Amino acid sequence: MSIEIKTQIPGPKSISLMEERKKHVARGPFHTTPIFIEKAHGAHVWDVDGNKLLDFASGIGVVNVGHTPKELVEAITEQAGKNIHSSINVLAYEGYVRLSEKINNAIPGDFHKKSFLCNSGAEAVENAIKIARSFTKRQAVIAFDHAYHGRTYMAMSLTSKVNFYKHGFAPFNSEVYRAPFPYQYRCPSCSGSCENTPSINQSSDTKNDLNSRFEAKCEPCFSQFAHMVNSQIGAQNVAAVIVEPVLGEGGFLPVPKGYMKELRKFCTDNGILLILDEIQSGFGRTGKMFAVDHYDIVPDLMTLAKGLGGGMPIAAVAGRADVMDAPPEGGIGGTYCGNPVACAAGLAVFDMFEKDNGKLLEHSEKIGKLIHDKFLFWMETYNCIGDVRGIGPMQAMEFVKDRNTKEPDKELTGKIAKYCYENGVVTITAGTFGNVMRLLVPLVITEEELMEGLNVIEKAIQFASK
Ligand SMILES: Cc1ncc(COP(=O)(O)O)c(C=O)c1O
Repeated sequence: MSIEIKTQIPGPKSISLMEERKKHVARGPFHTTPIFIEKAHGAHVWDVDGNKLLDFASGIGVVNVGHTPKELVEAITEQAGKNIHSSINVLAYEGYVRLSEKINNAIPGDFHKKSFLCNSGAEAVENAIKIARSFTKRQAVIAFDHAYHGRTYMAMSLTSKVNFYKHGFAPFNSEVYRAPFPYQYRCPSCSGSCENTPSINQSSDTKNDLNSRFEAKCEPCFSQFAHMVNSQIGAQNVAAVIVEPVLGEGGFLPVPKGYMKELRKFCTDNGILLILDEIQSGFGRTGKMFAVDHYDIVPDLMTLAKGLGGGMPIAAVAGRADVMDAPPEGGIGGTYCGNPVACAAGLAVFDMFEKDNGKLLEHSEKIGKLIHDKFLFWMETYNCIGDVRGIGPMQAMEFVKDRNTKEPDKELTGKIAKYCYENGVVTITAGTFGNVMRLLVPLVITEEELMEGLNVIEKAIQFASK
C-alpha cells in the first residue's frame, strides 16, 4: 500500500492554511479538495499534515510524466542557472527554436509546420483564433456545446459552460457560434434514439458498443452543424472551427471518428481552418502522443499546453507554416512567451516520451485499458453509473440518478470525490452537469498504484450510493 493516512483529511495544518487563504486570496479560484500540499513525486503528493495521497488529477492533466521526475528537475535547474528570462522579443535563445522544432515534428501533417510558444492554454487559444482570422481574413469562429477553451475573453467566449466559467462576465466576444456536440449518451439531435446512443442495460456487448460508438458518423448531429453554418453564418464567413478531440472539462467525450472526418472535409471544402484543442488530451493522455493520432485526419492548427511543460507554464499554437506566418512580424507575442526555463522543461518532457522507444506511451495505453475495463465492470455492477467513455487513460464515468431518465447525479459525484480524497486519492469531476468523474493519472503510475487508487474509488462508489 502506498497511501499513508496520518490525520483526518484535511488535517489541522491544511484547515488552518485554508482559513488564511480565505483572508488573503480572492475567492474566485476554486478548490476541488481542501488540501494543501508540501511536496510531490511520481504519482504521489504529500500534504502539509504528512499524509501521502495518490494523485489521480495530475494538476488537471499536467504532470503526465509524473511529479518532479529527475530529468525534468535537472533540466529546469540547469536552465535556471543560465538564463531565467531575456524575452524572446529581445534576446533569442536556442531552447525556443528547439522546442518549436520538436512540436512541429510531433504533430501530424507532412507539410511545413511552425510553432508559436506562449504561457497558458487560454493564451494559445486566443492566438490560434488571431492567426486563423489573419490568414483567412474572415471573422466567424465555431465552437461546440460542452467545450472548454479557457478563461480569457475569447477563450471564455468559446467555452460553453456558463456556471461558473461565464456567469456575470458578459458581454462576450462577437462572431462566436456554437454547434451541438455529438454527445452520444445524451444525443442532442435525436433525444437518445439514434443507433449511436449506447444501450442502457449494459451487457457483455458493451465493449463492442463502445468501439462502434467511436467509429460513428453521428449524421443527425453533423447535419445540424452544417445547417447551422449555412443558415446562420455562411461558410464563406467562417475563419475556423475549434474542437477538443476529446472534451476535457466537458466530461471526456471523444468526437466520434466518422464525425471528425466529416468535419475535416467540410472545413477543407469551404476554406475553413480546423483547430484541434489538444490542451488536455495531448502528451500521452489518450495512450498516443496526441488524441488526433487516433483519427485519420490532419488539423490545420493545434493548441497545446498542460502536459507540454510537465508543470511549467508553457503552451503552443502549432501547424501549417503558411497559416502560422499570416500575422505580420510583431502581430503575436508577449513578454514571457516561451520562457527559457519552461522551454527546457518542454524539451525534457519530449525526451521522456522518446526514451526507451516510447515506453511511456506504451505504459499509458496499458493503464488506459486497465482503467477502462475496471470502469466497464463497475458499470455492470453499479446502477448509478450511466456511461463510461474515453480514449486510453483519459477515461470517465457519468453518474445518474436513474439509468432510464439519465438524470445527472451531481451530488453523488461530489460525495464520491470527497470520500476519495478523505481516503487518500485525489480525483476531479467534470461535465456540464457536474456528474462526471474523470481520471487524469500521472502516466508513470505503476499498475499496483493504479489498482490501489481504483479500489478506493470503488469503495467510494459503494459508500456514496448506499
Ligand atoms: C481543452 C482545454 N483548452 C484550454 C484550456 C485552458 O488552459 P489554461 O487553463 O492553461 O488556460 C484547458 C484547461 O483546462 C483545456 O482543458
